[in-house]
Amino acid sequence: MLIHLICAARPNFMKIAPLYHALKKEDWAEPYIVHTGQHYDLNMSDAFFKDLSLPEPNLHLGVGSGTHAEQTGKVMISYEKALMDRRPDLVVVVGDVNSTMAATLAASKLGVKVAHLEAGLRAFDRTMPEEINRVVTDSLADILWTPSPDAVENLIREGVSPDKIHNVGNIMIDSLEMLRGKIEQQDVYRDFGLQPQGYCLVTLHRPSNVDNPESLTRLCKILVQMTEKIPLVFPVHPRTRKNLEQNNLLDILRNGNGLSLPDPLSYIRFMNMVFNCRFVVTDSGGIQEETTYLGIPCLTVRPNTERPITITNGTNQLCKLEELTDKVDAILSGSSPQAKKIEFWDGRTADRIVAFLRRHQAFPVARRLSSQLPC
Ligand code: UD1
Repeated sequence: MLIHLICAARPNFMKIAPLYHALKKEDWAEPYIVHTGQHYDLNMSDAFFKDLSLPEPNLHLGVGSGTHAEQTGKVMISYEKALMDRRPDLVVVVGDVNSTMAATLAASKLGVKVAHLEAGLRAFDRTMPEEINRVVTDSLADILWTPSPDAVENLIREGVSPDKIHNVGNIMIDSLEMLRGKIEQQDVYRDFGLQPQGYCLVTLHRPSNVDNPESLTRLCKILVQMTEKIPLVFPVHPRTRKNLEQNNLLDILRNGNGLSLPDPLSYIRFMNMVFNCRFVVTDSGGIQEETTYLGIPCLTVRPNTERPITITNGTNQLCKLEELTDKVDAILSGSSPQAKKIEFWDGRTADRIVAFLRRHQAFPVARRLSSQLPC
């Protein structure tokens, strides 16, 4: 069974890695990595392949950056050619980036079956490009692998047939558990002259936070004020660095004593910084989940989240810019939500997916989906 695993951007690599390694052990499966090239820098892509022990991609589409339509169009055009050269039995897309939607469109139009891993997440906010990618991908995919029960509910509410939905759990936790030993061996905080629990880790890259010069300036000022309470380590995403440079804001940040601005860290080094921080300030999706799993307080600088389970069952709190200082004070004085265990966030999601595919691989996917075979 030829299975394309589509990856494109930083948050995708830790989602395909556990599945790649699990499929590689199966004699009936041929996992085939397609990298669209949406992220191309060493520290946004190659470093992750290395940490996650992924081989070179079988196919690299090299699409690079561009507007949303350009990026989506370029992936569709190149990936369609690859699909026509050698047709896979299944295309697995992950997450919610532009390439996820583009690969889904190209495959669906050729009648190639698509499975979406991390299906059903909804922020109910169509100003987020990722929300549009999620809705389009889920409406076309043949198999919907969800990370949590709220995602199942969203899909059912949208009228998706329950036959298509399989709650397999959170694959990001598989990567974390797969590499826990290596993550725990590191002491990356020492590179910044810090101690465990003695710093806040910051990541910010959402267009809504970093593309508008006014809100980016406010954000920078608040971060500088925070350094009076706790040192900050802020690995800077390329989108954010570009906007900080264009608006001459790097100097404001550098005025903050105790604010480090490294380039993005590799997976193992970054997770070591997460494991040892006092709390996180972020607008990322995945970090909301990782901090919930680890029981680390997380302030998400966004008006909504597609991962509400990290609030109801986890350590995550949504936070407006003007609330940030008070919420930081509360965390520093010991007040933050406690996490509960979430079903199937256990490091075994890839095994569940492989078991699902193993049970069904002898049948054409279309027939499987219309049959009553249980997950
Ligand atoms: C993308 C995803 C977002 C995800 C994020 C993780 C979409 C719509 N957005 O956002 O969901 O959370 O990745 O990082 O798919 N750049 C580089 N080097 C790189 C990659 C990007 O310099 O390796 C620059 C690009 O030139 C561009 C900017 O960063 O100016 C943004 O890149 P892009 O892939 O368009 O979106 P992200 O903001 O990274």
